[in-house]
Amino acid sequence: MRAYDIIEKKRDGNELSGEEIEFMVAGYTRGIIPDYQMSAWLMAVYFQGMTDRETADLTMSMMNSGSVADMSRFGNMVVDKHSSGGVGDKTTLIIAPIIAALGCKIPKMSGRGLGHTGGTLDKLESIPGFNTALSVEEFERVVNECGMAVISQTENITPADKKIYALRDTTATVSSIPLIASSIMSKKLASGAPNIVLDVTIGSGAFMKDIGKGQQLAEKMVAIGKSCGRNVAAVLTDMDEPLGFAVGNAVEVEESVRLLKGKKISGLYEVCVALAANMLSLASGEAYDSCVKCVTDTVASGAALRQFKKWIECQGGDARFIDDFSLLPTAKYERAVTAVRDGYITHMDAEMVGKASCMLGAGRLKYDDEIDPAAGVILRKKVGDMCHIGDTVCVLKASDPELFDEAEQAFVSALDFGDVKPALSGHMVLGIMR
Ligand code: URA
Repeated sequence: MRAYDIIEKKRDGNELSGEEIEFMVAGYTRGIIPDYQMSAWLMAVYFQGMTDRETADLTMSMMNSGSVADMSRFGNMVVDKHSSGGVGDKTTLIIAPIIAALGCKIPKMSGRGLGHTGGTLDKLESIPGFNTALSVEEFERVVNECGMAVISQTENITPADKKIYALRDTTATVSSIPLIASSIMSKKLASGAPNIVLDVTIGSGAFMKDIGKGQQLAEKMVAIGKSCGRNVAAVLTDMDEPLGFAVGNAVEVEESVRLLKGKKISGLYEVCVALAANMLSLASGEAYDSCVKCVTDTVASGAALRQFKKWIECQGGDARFIDDFSLLPTAKYERAVTAVRDGYITHMDAEMVGKASCMLGAGRLKYDDEIDPAAGVILRKKVGDMCHIGDTVCVLKASDPELFDEAEQAFVSALDFGDVKPALSGHMVLGIMR
């Protein structure tokens, strides 16, 4: 077999066999197929798509590129969750401790920032000492001791996704339904949970810009999970403006802790409750409404915050920042972006806000770029808010003041103003698929 022929076959719109897909995935993971051939193949997949069978084969090849964790000894109360990506999406940091405090086990494998979207691992690594690179054995030990663990794809677990994900990030091949579905499901299947909740984000900050595409992605992932004997639910959520008010890494960790301390941050709180309640309902078999009550009570009682602290410590982090945010990385420079006209914010393009945050150093432009954990954007206004000239709309944070001009331009281009207050649906959950 030759990579050239497989690229050509996909480029011309033909269906690949499982062996051909395995050849590409295994060859690239072992370094036999170079970046340029894999990039060409990914672009061919991007334009030609994949059949359901090809997507399932791609998922299996990526899952089998490393070890598969065995969580069967923890029984059925094991539940995993994954988001298809967004801006300001810090839901894992909030939901995982809530669900672990309720007696579930969460073995979670997460990703890094991709395109304009943030990554849970980059956020967690802004916590001093926090280690996301655990081996399969350490992963299982932490889940056993602490009820939860969030790790990266190590050399051991889905190494194929680790390499392909980084390549897609820099070759404009992210927003492809088969590539996203196989990337997410290979990690979810490899981390061994019998119950999986997928957060399929939709809107300007998501890879799926409209509900139709989001439904297609959700259907594909649910079908792959079910065909592998897992219970799967997909929750379609609104990502048309950034989730919450903080976009970046340390700033999102801080916002997550504020929510766990009881602050009902609008939009973010609703999405977290819906995702957590779906996870609990899937794992326990209890009715959704009673799961919503358990979730909100767990936050209100402080149990979720106590679990968060325990988790940070179990993965080597210094948890003192929970009571003193100045122990998190702090940006040396800040710039306020102010309104240049009176009016309501009628639209905030979340992708542009994500790009502004990347420009400040919070995300990567090339796959070996270093992340600045302190950089990011703090929103002071959101869609529907009234602004007067000179009001602060957001604060940009960076370690290098030279980065502000370009990021400010990007942020300003994300905003639309109008004289009439826009009608807001108020619904963050757009649908649930099981
Ligand atoms: N999240 C992933 O893990 N993979 C993707 O391709 C997109 C979002």
